Amino acid sequence: MPTPFDAVTFTRGPAMSNRLMLAPLTNQQSHADGTLSDEEHHWLTLRAQGGFGLTMTCAAHVQAVGQGFAGQLGIFGDQHLAGLTRLATDLVATGTVAYVQLHHAGNRAPAALVGTDPVCPSDDPDTGARALTTAETEQVVADFVAAAGRAQRAGFHGVELHGAHGYLICQFLSADLNRRTDRYGGSLDNRSRLLFEIVDGIRAECGDDLAVAVRLSPERFGMQIDEVCEVYGRLVDCGKVDLIDMSLWDVDRRAGDDAHHDRTLTEVFSELPRGTVRLGVAGKIHDPSDVQRVLDHDVDVAVLGRVAILHHDYPRHLGEPGFVPRRPPVDRGVLAAEGLSPAFIEYMAGNFTGFVSA
Ligand SMILES: Cc1cc2nc3c(=O)[nH]c(=O)nc-3n(C[C@H](O)[C@H](O)[C@H](O)COP(=O)(O)O)c2cc1C
Repeated sequence: MPTPFDAVTFTRGPAMSNRLMLAPLTNQQSHADGTLSDEEHHWLTLRAQGGFGLTMTCAAHVQAVGQGFAGQLGIFGDQHLAGLTRLATDLVATGTVAYVQLHHAGNRAPAALVGTDPVCPSDDPDTGARALTTAETEQVVADFVAAAGRAQRAGFHGVELHGAHGYLICQFLSADLNRRTDRYGGSLDNRSRLLFEIVDGIRAECGDDLAVAVRLSPERFGMQIDEVCEVYGRLVDCGKVDLIDMSLWDVDRRAGDDAHHDRTLTEVFSELPRGTVRLGVAGKIHDPSDVQRVLDHDVDVAVLGRVAILHHDYPRHLGEPGFVPRRPPVDRGVLAAEGLSPAFIEYMAGNFTGFVSA
């Protein structure tokens, strides 16, 4: 089995120099109009300098109405290009592989933030979101593709489609939320059409120079493990995707599904055929032994979230004998020294109980 320090090659785009990827981490550090701030630039370039083989940005919204968080990075217009270019240039200069995560919050966009009703595959009384028309759905595809083109022009090596956590792509996949009767609803083929049209559109627009990753989560938000396995297989078969990033929240958790209950989520997905597509998994990978354990389960890339907030240079420490990563709660001074701005620290304190000490 590989060690964390072995390189990973991809069908498209440069190889990672090690098997550690910075997870996409929303941090509310961008300007209100979605342009890059110095704080966001600092937080990410510090992780790239710290040795992550792949540095993923936070979720960046591809339409104004798809904004999920205040202070979110935007990629929905050319006004974002200058900041994205600065970020890509400085990330790439460190030797990391650099991707932007492309996102649309759908019904999870707060109406007060986007200034209009949020949108969803079908009317959603719980959130007040309204159904997208077929033409608007086609526009969503076009806007994901345009955002990928912008990422490519900015100099990123790849993009990741955020198909996880109940956001718009996931809402389309969900038989609960998607009750459409046009070609984007009904069968799994139809519910996954949005995702595959985006992948096809990016390949047509960006050629083979841009790597494409897809992030999926197998549970909650109407996801059924078997359906997610089927989508995974079709992403592999389409030959247009380079990395599948499974957001598991706990890589050791047993699948809560009858058909798979005796296996962990990591095992379920790492045992599926994937050809030359690379597999990353995220969820409570903390200690060096956790990293090695997922690699031993034939996963290609360990995706690190909270521990990468705690150690900007986790990859550099990983090889040190006796390295014991910090555990939360940590105080604000530690997080500031790790490159988090006050806005990001408050986001962690408000949304991740027990992460920041009082
Ligand atoms: C502060 C924070 C922000 C996050 N933002 C995103 C995001 O923008 N996009 C996404 O796909 N996942 C996001 N996640 C999920 C992480 O990418 C990751 O999958 C999750 O935290 C589990 O990994 P960990 O246990 O190593 O933190 C976020 C998680 C945290 C803690």
